[in-house]
Amino acid sequence: MLKGLLFDLDGVLTNSAKFHLTAWNNLAKELGIKLNQSQLDSLRGISRMDSLNLILKYGDQSDKYSLEEKEKLAAEKNAKFVEQVETMTPKDILPGIPELLAAAKRHNLKIVIASASKNAPKILRRLGIIDEFDGIVDPATLKHGKPDPEIYIKAQKIAGLKANEVISLEDAKAGVEAIKAAGQFAVGIGNQELLKEADYIVPDTSQLNLDEIEAEFNKR
Ligand code: G6P
Ligand code: MG
Repeated sequence: MLKGLLFDLDGVLTNSAKFHLTAWNNLAKELGIKLNQSQLDSLRGISRMDSLNLILKYGDQSDKYSLEEKEKLAAEKNAKFVEQVETMTPKDILPGIPELLAAAKRHNLKIVIASASKNAPKILRRLGIIDEFDGIVDPATLKHGKPDPEIYIKAQKIAGLKANEVISLEDAKAGVEAIKAAGQFAVGIGNQELLKEADYIVPDTSQLNLDEIEAEFNKR
């Protein structure tokens, strides 16, 4: 029986994924690295340092910088990202999300955030929805980033539920892989080909309908 929803944040509740990608793309250009679309897409859902390491790998610069230099570069990217976050308002909640959260409340579902972002509380405050959630995984406590299932297993524990009692929502390939590795039902939001491992896929958040998703979930 469905008892909870576990939410990724960037690209699911709000379009902050595009701010991450723009900030990374600009930093990559500064480093003389040109990223193609599939390389950019591969950064979705990936932690800050893992993202920087991937970009350096794409540019054949894996050994170029010391840890201290990399921390400075990551902080530079984060400052640019946070500038964008400071402009966010409740109007930036993606279509269909308020309705989905309201439906979850009506069904008495636990709702927990499973985002790798250290900025998640800040973003949720800007969106005015932080109090709606029963919990937020603290990414600082994680040993492994997505696609490792650790974050979804933690979110499920915060909700006090079992893997077969939750539906988890993601816009990232690495995120869908993490959900499936945690043994949970995955809803993918976005590109069908990219998210093909998900149990249920919608092109965008406006197409999310709890009754329809739950009907699919109940068939498993
Ligand atoms: C989310 C985003 C990623 C981002 C990561 C870390 O998973 O999808 O694009 O790199 O969080 O975010 P942070 O705000 O801590 O740099
Ligand atoms: Mg995401």
